[in-house]
Amino acid sequence: MSDGASPKLLPVEPFELIVFGATGDLSLRKLIPSLFHRWRDDQIPPESKIIGVSRGAGDSSAYRQLALDSFRKHHPAETVDEAEWRAFADLLTYVELDAMREDADWSALAAATDQSAGKQRIFYLALAPDLYGPVSRNIERAGLNSPGARIVLEKPIGKDLASAHEINRAVGAVFPEESIFRIDHYLGKETVQNLIVLRFMNSLFEPLWNANAIDHVEITVAESIGVGGRAGYYDTSGALRDMVQNHLLQLLCLVAMEPPLDLEPDTVRDEKIKVLRALRPVTAENVRDTSVRGQYGPGASGGEVVPGYLDELDAASRTETYVAIKASIDNWRWKGAPFYLRTGKRMKARYSEIIIQFKDVAHAILKDESALPPTRMVIRLQPDEGVKLLLVTKDPGPGGMRLRYVPLNLSYAEAFAARYPDAYERLLMAVVRGDLGLFMRRDEVEAAWRWVDGILDAWNIDKTPVHSYAAGTDGPMHAAMLLDRDGRAWFDGV
Ligand code: BG6
Repeated sequence: MSDGASPKLLPVEPFELIVFGATGDLSLRKLIPSLFHRWRDDQIPPESKIIGVSRGAGDSSAYRQLALDSFRKHHPAETVDEAEWRAFADLLTYVELDAMREDADWSALAAATDQSAGKQRIFYLALAPDLYGPVSRNIERAGLNSPGARIVLEKPIGKDLASAHEINRAVGAVFPEESIFRIDHYLGKETVQNLIVLRFMNSLFEPLWNANAIDHVEITVAESIGVGGRAGYYDTSGALRDMVQNHLLQLLCLVAMEPPLDLEPDTVRDEKIKVLRALRPVTAENVRDTSVRGQYGPGASGGEVVPGYLDELDAASRTETYVAIKASIDNWRWKGAPFYLRTGKRMKARYSEIIIQFKDVAHAILKDESALPPTRMVIRLQPDEGVKLLLVTKDPGPGGMRLRYVPLNLSYAEAFAARYPDAYERLLMAVVRGDLGLFMRRDEVEAAWRWVDGILDAWNIDKTPVHSYAAGTDGPMHAAMLLDRDGRAWFDGV
């Protein structure tokens, strides 16, 4: 156990990372900066190589400049030491290649790779999911999938169960499952990792972690940004596919799963998939009682007037930018304690939070029983990371038995003065180390799609309305009715 001294980075072996889609937003905004941070932290061995692959004409020196400009743009508060950047940039090479085309000449990429033994080869597909299968096949055709090579796929894996299945099949024909790293970047977040520690490394919670003691769970991932330049992609996705199928369901699994025997990747993933399989299907008959769809209109956000989704898209659309769902887990632990999920763009504020609401006390010994709020555990994932236990206490001093609802507060910022690395830093280094625990297994992704497909089908059959909400607000008021029907309300702070 740590004594609070500065953390040690786990050493990694020299690697060779081949990034397809190297000039795209993900590569320039997340991947290269994360690698630079770990380089600065001395975790990346200097023999490592990073090969950026893209269709555009260019050379290594132009790519290095592009990477530097982009780092500066996305990390304006950080000063970049020129010498340090140059040393890092020496690892970067650029290869122009249309990896989609079967007849493309892969010799330049083959020449850029390092054939010497012992270097971990990793392909990172920062591409659209429908390219995962074809590019994997072309990697094989070019003979680059050397034994032990790994491949990293970004979410979303497909747009429904059928397409996810096809992608998994095509990639699986080239790479074995233990070499496939499917990213859900929420699994790389510090506070998400802490969920497992909190639940299973403190004896206090586990006996209470079930429907006997817990009334319900809320999971909120609210974003204040709109879709902006991503409207084209986003309109084929929507909040359910973009956020619920992956991030919110992963959070739900970590809160709901049975205690794993150990932290081996498959032990944990086996427990998560049991939860996904226990999710009660949403059908056309119950979809209006279990889900709410919304789309933001114009409004005021961050002190400025912002356009609505349809203005950004410049077309008619029923794609949801907000969704709230009542998820029921049909197993012994959770029977009767629903999980309410909600996520949306252009909400009042950006925050992600899990609320565990415990049951009311069995019998009120004070006369004014209606005023007694329930015990709640608030797990704040971002920003202001921390955990609060909201308890009823006696207001100190005279005046009789006056009650106050106050938090036992573990604020990460106050307790640990650590830097919060971007989730991609941890995930990239986990790929190099071959740690599959932070990635989604094939059956997990497919089980999540099976449940989400049910909701999409039900929306289609039922023609479930998409309610408009003003940008900069809490989403459509219908989401309040989802809980109100059950005699509950979203927790909005004390
Ligand atoms: C991505 C979604 O997976 O997660 C985006 O595609 C969303 O639409 C993002 O904005 C949110 O991530 P974070 O880490 O900012 O909460």
